[in-house]
Amino acid sequence: MTQKGITVAPAEGKLGVLLVGLGAVSTTLVAGVLASKKGLAKPIGSLTQMGTIRLGKRTEHKSPFIKEFVPLAKMEDLVFGAWDVFPDNAYEAAIKAGVIEKPMLDALKEELSALKPWPAAFDKNFVCKLDGTHVKKAATKWDLAGQLMEDIERFKDQNKISRLNMIWCASTEAYLQSKPSHMSLEALEKGLKANDPNIPPSMIYAYAALKLGIPFSNGAPNLTVDTPALLELADKMNVPLSGKDFKTGQTLMKTIIAPGLRARLLGIAGWFSTNILGNRDGEVLDAPENFKTKEESKLSVLDTILQPELQPELYGKLYHKVRINYYPPRGDDKESWDNIDIFGWMGYPMQLKVNFLCRDSILAAPLVLDLVLLMDLAHRAGMKGIQEWLSFFYKSPMVAEGLYPEHNLFIQQTKLKNTLRHMMGEDPITHIGLEYYE
Ligand SMILES: NC(=O)c1ccc[n+]([C@@H]2O[C@H](COP(=O)([O-])OP(=O)(O)OC[C@H]3O[C@@H](n4cnc5c(N)ncnc54)[C@H](O)[C@@H]3O)[C@@H](O)[C@H]2O)c1
Repeated sequence: MTQKGITVAPAEGKLGVLLVGLGAVSTTLVAGVLASKKGLAKPIGSLTQMGTIRLGKRTEHKSPFIKEFVPLAKMEDLVFGAWDVFPDNAYEAAIKAGVIEKPMLDALKEELSALKPWPAAFDKNFVCKLDGTHVKKAATKWDLAGQLMEDIERFKDQNKISRLNMIWCASTEAYLQSKPSHMSLEALEKGLKANDPNIPPSMIYAYAALKLGIPFSNGAPNLTVDTPALLELADKMNVPLSGKDFKTGQTLMKTIIAPGLRARLLGIAGWFSTNILGNRDGEVLDAPENFKTKEESKLSVLDTILQPELQPELYGKLYHKVRINYYPPRGDDKESWDNIDIFGWMGYPMQLKVNFLCRDSILAAPLVLDLVLLMDLAHRAGMKGIQEWLSFFYKSPMVAEGLYPEHNLFIQQTKLKNTLRHMMGEDPITHIGLEYYE
């Protein structure tokens, strides 16, 4: 398809979705897609399935569905493959995750049971709370990457797949800062062959995907593709990347509320956020080194929204605290509390309390679907490297070196929609609107 903007290859054939991790988020995604296809449920929360996009002037009243405006793969064309450190098929894993009610899972049992994970590339040093048994054995990390590539090629052939997309929906790995083996492709490949302990499984999966020219998205806050080595590989292979950490739950609310307070120039003295959750994600995050990865991601969002360097009187002394407490009885039904101490005219204090009873995986699943479809679109449009326009979906958006990430959900949304307009040769919408009064 040739447009005024960018040439986008059509979405022909099947799209293979490679899920790393077949836990709560992944099984909720797969069940939701199957249920939508059968007309048993609606894909609520998915921008690609339910979102619309305004084109042209407001007087034109032209707002097609996004899925009709850009050439996206259809849900019918998706084929799922997955890896996990436990051998449970998607039906068994979904029952254990406890997100979707059993009658619905039973209605999808045949298809869910057919999705059996391949053994994982796993390293307990990065997720100390899991004792996975369904894992690959190899002499080196280089060989592990080779085994992952074999899984992918086999899956592609068996299912007659035209295009692939990989997304990390596995546990959050222990905190890791950039190391020498992450600094160039050559160093990473050397490290893989030498079993460098600083190369976590997520980098091995990402390496395997990019090496095969497959777009990679990162739903967890792990470093993974946010490294010079893997950025170099993506550039070399002309593949898009996106990350990190799905923006759901409490952080989603934070990036909705904070821009409003900032827009009205209301000061914030403190923002205390606490959560209870009892799923496997909560258990993994109960380990301090895994929580640290998440904490960095959660803490970073307020800074670039509030810009304390520009408004030191309003936000310069803000005390921001985030806690996650593992509390098994709550399962996937996370509860979060936020106490926000704000101040207004003449410094008078006020308080805002937010108590969000959410469902983590119900909020995350549509993001996975959107990311897979939009990353596939980006790939067909010849876009490579970091896809900043997909920041809308992430807590810690990846950006080019030297840029600060944009966390404001509404700016992220404008960026995403204008990118779609640009791709399809439509004018961006600036919201100036003076022409209506000329
Ligand atoms: N649910 C949300 O709202 C949300 C939001 C942001 C980020 N995330 C992140 O998404 C990820 C998935 O969340 P979840 O609730 O599904 O967690 P989960 O614990 O239910 O599922 C993760 C799965 O990954 C598997 N796994 C761990 N290491 C693996 C490896 N090396 N290879 C293959 N599989 C591996 C685990 O066995 C588990 O089944 C987590 O990292 C979480 O922090 C979730």
